[in-house]
Amino acid sequence: MMTQPEPTFLSLLGLHHELNDLLARHQAKLVSGAIGKAVSDWAEFMAALIVHADDEEQLLLPLYQKRVTIPRGGTVDLFLAEHRKIRAFLAEISGLLNEVKGMPEPGAHRIIVILEREYEFKKLLEHHDMREKNFLYPLLDGGTAAAERRKMLSRLRVSI
Ligand SMILES: [Fe+2]
Ligand SMILES: [Fe+2]
Repeated sequence: MMTQPEPTFLSLLGLHHELNDLLARHQAKLVSGAIGKAVSDWAEFMAALIVHADDEEQLLLPLYQKRVTIPRGGTVDLFLAEHRKIRAFLAEISGLLNEVKGMPEPGAHRIIVILEREYEFKKLLEHHDMREKNFLYPLLDGGTAAAERRKMLSRLRVSI
């Protein structure tokens, strides 16, 4: 991992971006009929996203609660509720992908259903990204010293 001269939590937006790229690759494979590859991209995406959300819940949100004067749109409860919705979507879409995985010819309709659920999921991820971009990450940056940020960022299991 590269060491950053000025460690910031805001840099985690780069990780969100990488996750979005992985999801886009998964979707491209799904529409091109490479179901097996689409499923393995999804598994990689899901595993990283789950660990990232767990990192936030175990390490970042407790510090945020302690250090920051939390504004209305950025409460810990809101972040936890969005993480719950994200996990529910991950489980639902994994179920849909599992159904088509073993089929020799899944049919366009099933693929469209999956893409449409993924579209709803992407809208949720976008909202969540905005909330972390506007509240969690910058306010934590403002409430911590550089050395502390570096240490905390190094403890995250998924980072860029
Ligand atoms: Fe999050
Ligand atoms: Fe995040």
